[in-house]
Amino acid sequence: MTDVLTLHQISLTIRGKTLLKDINLSIPKGSFITLAGPSGAGKSTILKICARLLTPSSGKLLYNESDAFLIPPHDYRRHVSYCFQQPVLFGETVADNLNFPFQIRNQVPDQERQHALLDQINLPADYLSKNIASLSGGEKQRIALIRNLMFEPDVLLLDEVTTGLDAENKQIVHRLIDNYRQKGTILAITHDQEELAQAEKIVTIKGGQIHE
Ligand SMILES: Nc1ncnc2c1ncn2[C@@H]1O[C@H](COP(=O)(O)OP(=O)(O)OP(=O)(O)O)[C@@H](O)[C@H]1O
Ligand SMILES: [Mg+2]
Repeated sequence: MTDVLTLHQISLTIRGKTLLKDINLSIPKGSFITLAGPSGAGKSTILKICARLLTPSSGKLLYNESDAFLIPPHDYRRHVSYCFQQPVLFGETVADNLNFPFQIRNQVPDQERQHALLDQINLPADYLSKNIASLSGGEKQRIALIRNLMFEPDVLLLDEVTTGLDAENKQIVHRLIDNYRQKGTILAITHDQEELAQAEKIVTIKGGQIHE
């Protein structure tokens, strides 16, 4: 199977501190890979490199076998979408967030699609006008996720997106991810025992390196 993303000998040193060393990772199209390992190991750093939020000191990141860093950033973000460990919403309302994916594509927001995704995360359509300051943590995480899924990316990078959610919210998010999984590729980080037990493939990171 061809790789959608390939990390080749990736190292990252910031101010003399080695955060990642010689990371080699193949992410085949359609796979679901889970990164595990202790806090501070470098898992989020790997995801941020995959999202091109950080540039490695050495090594190569390939997207569909060509240098990912040569792709215009705007195009790249549409293909490879990063969901933060702490969800980040912007503007004032839920609509500000769910209109954004359309605006960057110069498209009129598709309310039907917005309503369909809100429905998938058990929120009513009138949530579009809700102020983001009034949302619970679980609601924010769910809104951030459907913002990333409004147009389905090729690769979804999930950084502990279920951490801190209650069982019900977790289940809603799992359903959304399962649904996307039929079409896309996932690289996820989790400390959740249940998610680790069900993981398709686990790669353990320790001290900035892949632990065989
Ligand atoms: N921009 C940065 N500059 C300097 N050090 C950084 C930077 N980003 C991360 N680090 C350090 O790199 C190490 C790895 O951080 P990272 O966030 O990747 O860990 P993690 O495996 O995701 O941990 P957790 O499970 O707690 O989220 C940590 O020691 C962190 O302090
Ligand atoms: Mg992390």
